[in-house]
Amino acid sequence: MTNELSKGSRERRIKDKDLFETVEEVFDTKTVMTIYELMKRRVLRRVNGVISAGKEARIYLAYSFNKDPLAVKIYLTSTAEFRKGVVKYIAGDPRFNGVNIGGIRRLIYLWAKKEFRNLKRMYEVGVRVPKPIAVLNNVLVMEFIGEEGLRYPLLKEVWKELSREELLKVYELLIEEIKKIYCLAKLVHADLSEFNVMVKPGGVPVIIDVSQSVSIDHPYAEEFLVRDIRNIYDFFYSEVGLEVADFKDILKEVRSCRGVKEDLSQE
Ligand SMILES: Nc1ncnc2c1ncn2[C@@H]1O[C@H](COP(=O)(O)OP(=O)(O)O)[C@@H](O)[C@H]1O
Ligand SMILES: [Mg+2]
Repeated sequence: MTNELSKGSRERRIKDKDLFETVEEVFDTKTVMTIYELMKRRVLRRVNGVISAGKEARIYLAYSFNKDPLAVKIYLTSTAEFRKGVVKYIAGDPRFNGVNIGGIRRLIYLWAKKEFRNLKRMYEVGVRVPKPIAVLNNVLVMEFIGEEGLRYPLLKEVWKELSREELLKVYELLIEEIKKIYCLAKLVHADLSEFNVMVKPGGVPVIIDVSQSVSIDHPYAEEFLVRDIRNIYDFFYSEVGLEVADFKDILKEVRSCRGVKEDLSQE
């Protein structure tokens, strides 16, 4: 690893050194070892600055050996609060039946794996999400949504700069994405809002942050679906002031695929 880091210009070396000092300060040894292991497996070549520092996870910009930008989501070994918050989404999901959720570290690993699986399932049916690349312990690697090292903005951050036509396009595409998630991936996002949608130039939404997404068989799936649609509806109707379909009609439209899976999957 030292070899890898000592390549390149002096300036770059200093940057990397700074980064690794930061990483080592912020993360426990196991997390640092996980990042090293991903480098050894040639998933990551280098890790740059932090993109976002949330309560439960940090996102870093990184680069692959092909120099493609990547987003690395690192779950922090967290508090009892985290445990309380996440258990609801795992317990009850048939995919996690019989899985021992054990101690906090195990739970976080499971949570990262769950986000990876959800991303994969959505990506495979054509939902606009970052392409999942790898997951190891509490570290998830995915496609970077942005250009030249700068992430694209969140819907929350950018909507005021968009034209009515672009906003309408984002809205319509988002409803399509919700339908694909529900009807094709058979999942419910469960934390959908203007804070978890990035917007590519031209008004193309990309859905992120899918760790809490649940199977449609989860006992709270319908409740989460209603909440997701409610958030999107409220945002476009009340905050943006866009004339959108009635909340109940959107919900009905999304749900209309239940039982007609075959027809939809051929679209
Ligand atoms: N694949 C990605 N590419 C670029 N930026 C990302 C990517 N995923 C997340 N981000 C940025 O990091 C922030 C936090 O990511 P998110 O998955 O929503 O985690 P959380 O909200 O749990 O902290 C996002 O709001 C977004 O700005
Ligand atoms: Mg988020």
